[in-house]
Amino acid sequence: MRHWTLDDIDWGAFDRAKTDEDTVRIIKAASMVEFNGNDYARYLEKVFAGDAVFIKAAWDWAEEEVQHGEALRRWAELADPEWDFDEAFKRFTEGFSLPLETDASVRGSRCRELIARCVVEVGTSSYYSALRDSTDEPVLKQICGNIAADEFRHYKLFFDHMKRYRKTEKPWLVQRMKVAVGRLIEGEDDELAYAYYAANKIPGPYDRKACIAAYGSRALPRYERGHVQLATNMVMKAVGVKPQSRVGQFSNRLAWRAFDRRRRQLQEAAPGF
Ligand SMILES: [Fe+2]
Ligand SMILES: [Fe+2]
Repeated sequence: MRHWTLDDIDWGAFDRAKTDEDTVRIIKAASMVEFNGNDYARYLEKVFAGDAVFIKAAWDWAEEEVQHGEALRRWAELADPEWDFDEAFKRFTEGFSLPLETDASVRGSRCRELIARCVVEVGTSSYYSALRDSTDEPVLKQICGNIAADEFRHYKLFFDHMKRYRKTEKPWLVQRMKVAVGRLIEGEDDELAYAYYAANKIPGPYDRKACIAAYGSRALPRYERGHVQLATNMVMKAVGVKPQSRVGQFSNRLAWRAFDRRRRQLQEAAPGF
């Protein structure tokens, strides 16, 4: 069930004077990754074969992700009427595909797959919250607010199903942490970097490291400490560590320091495109 549609967005309030090139570039990339949501639902359908309740939820989830892509696409087209989404999306899907041709979770089990899904939704919920809070452009603010609310709901969805599988699979804390940390590191994966490359017609062959820096140096400065803190707490909850515990508080400080360091590294390494 969708909680909003494109018609709920006040497109007429778009204010070009409040847009900037960097924001337009990262929104173009994000729109394509979101629009690709159905690919992941197809994969989840195979991994969770037999679990009809979850499969139905996964397709509803994908429908919302695709809508995120559509809303961001429309905003990017308002900001840059010359931009050709279809052409950029073709370039993106031709050069990048998710390793999803498998019947078992690439994470090793259904519970672990769901922990990884929680981590992804932590990433998106905090990112769109940060974008909403850092932009003055009213339409983008509204879109990102709506998307962030969806992403928090997605986290809850995967979290609830994860708890169900945790009861039977009983993975150890170390295994749960391994999945979460692994997925966090992959946060900087090819998908967004390649989407940035394809969306912004970067000349020459794809340079993974440069594109990660190009995207990250524009995206990470939008986060405030509160966004990172909430995200860290959500990851801990998914893993089964209490954020209020000593380990939790220590992890929170560590996560902020690591985030801040990475942000500076990416800004220093940022290429000219
Ligand atoms: Fe999304
Ligand atoms: Fe989501």
